[in-house]
Amino acid sequence: MGEFVVRGGRRLEGTVRVNGAKNAALPIMAASILAQGPVVLHDVPDLRDVAVMTDVLKAVGATVKRSGADMTIDPRGINQHVVPAHLMQEMRASIFVMGPLLARLGRAEAVQPGGCAIGDRPIDLHLYGFRALGADVQDGGGRTVIAGKNLSPGEIHLAFPSVGATENLMMAASRIPGETRIRNAAMEPEIVDLAQFLEKLGAVVRGAGTSDIRIVGQEWLGTCEHTIIPDRIEAATLALGVAATGGHAVLENCLPDHLPGLWGRLRDVGVRVATEDAERVEIWAPAQYRPAPVSVHTSPYPGFATDMQPQFLAFLLKIPGVHVVSERVFENRLGHSRELRRMGAQIVADQRVALIYGGRPLVGSVVAAPDLRAGAALVIAALMAEGETIIKGREIIERGYQQLAERLSLLGADIGVR
Ligand code: EPZ
Repeated sequence: MGEFVVRGGRRLEGTVRVNGAKNAALPIMAASILAQGPVVLHDVPDLRDVAVMTDVLKAVGATVKRSGADMTIDPRGINQHVVPAHLMQEMRASIFVMGPLLARLGRAEAVQPGGCAIGDRPIDLHLYGFRALGADVQDGGGRTVIAGKNLSPGEIHLAFPSVGATENLMMAASRIPGETRIRNAAMEPEIVDLAQFLEKLGAVVRGAGTSDIRIVGQEWLGTCEHTIIPDRIEAATLALGVAATGGHAVLENCLPDHLPGLWGRLRDVGVRVATEDAERVEIWAPAQYRPAPVSVHTSPYPGFATDMQPQFLAFLLKIPGVHVVSERVFENRLGHSRELRRMGAQIVADQRVALIYGGRPLVGSVVAAPDLRAGAALVIAALMAEGETIIKGREIIERGYQQLAERLSLLGADIGVR
């Protein structure tokens, strides 16, 4: 496993462009399976997870061509309904192709996606929804097979607003003539981006971005061209790095409205944030942070995003006071607390709640990324720490952050890879 080597104490300053969103690109790549011909995507990030989804699409028979941030996916050769086990095990988001394969081929098969560091992450809500659309679902022995040539539109009420289940079911429904309704649907911006893609293909999608989505599917869909929305979690990570290092930076291609839970929190502790511009955010960290006890809990959009909880927790180490972070979306997403303690952080945590004693200095150490966003939190902490920090598991972090070291270096960080 590779490493990041960071020497802390440098302010992040300058301008950086936010890349296209990993968590919008992955479902939209999967949705290309539904099209009748080649689709063209723009601003597709160059990430390991995108490469895995590319391999999944090729494995089922699509052709995928990439040129810079542009990608052309031609689904016309798709004739395989089985997702290769090693790809499903490498990336849970491979599950996104199940709905489209069911819609296109009448069948989809995959090993059950493994849990990961942050939780068990079952797929029961996905399977419940496929059954509600008339599919036969066999789910035993570690494999899942869903089949149905004549699916019917239905009403699906999700017990939890699962992002992936909402996306999988929107995709399946878009090729079923008639109106399917998804209640208690996820409302994340990535859902809205997928809906816009499906509409460009010819489906009618109403209510994306609300908890009540109606999809009027068509037996055949067309083709389209689409630009992926900016990655709000990458933007949050960069913003927290600037705020944590006393810096001043402009984030371009950043939609402030996609992070409703973050900007007010930063302002509460004295960080200045300009969000008047629809596609740009400017951040000024203060000379002195306003000591204030901060309490935050994660929840589905538009609540405080779980994907920026680890990075925000690392930032709180800078703020004098006692803070509480409660992770309510995943059952085990505070693993970064253990690693941050190796850097001198004073944190008491169980699997769901952390108590953070902020305002104390951090010192460089050797740490390991437990998962993608926890790894990003370690990078932020290393930028704040005195001395050198070695962060093991660079590839885990690079699943979600393109050219992270290069881009942080351009902002003034002392960070290298090995
Ligand atoms: C998506 O994962 C994101 N991944 C995650 O980002 C993100 O953390 C998550 O949504 C929540 O916002 C992608 O979009 C590729 P969920 P997903 O289904 O769809 C439970 C990152 O760092 N659940 O909304 O898997 C589940 O266990 C990644 O970029 C069920 O119980 O998330 C979890 O506790 C990490 N049954 C909660 O719902 C199901 O069938 C939220 O999961 C599905 C989910």
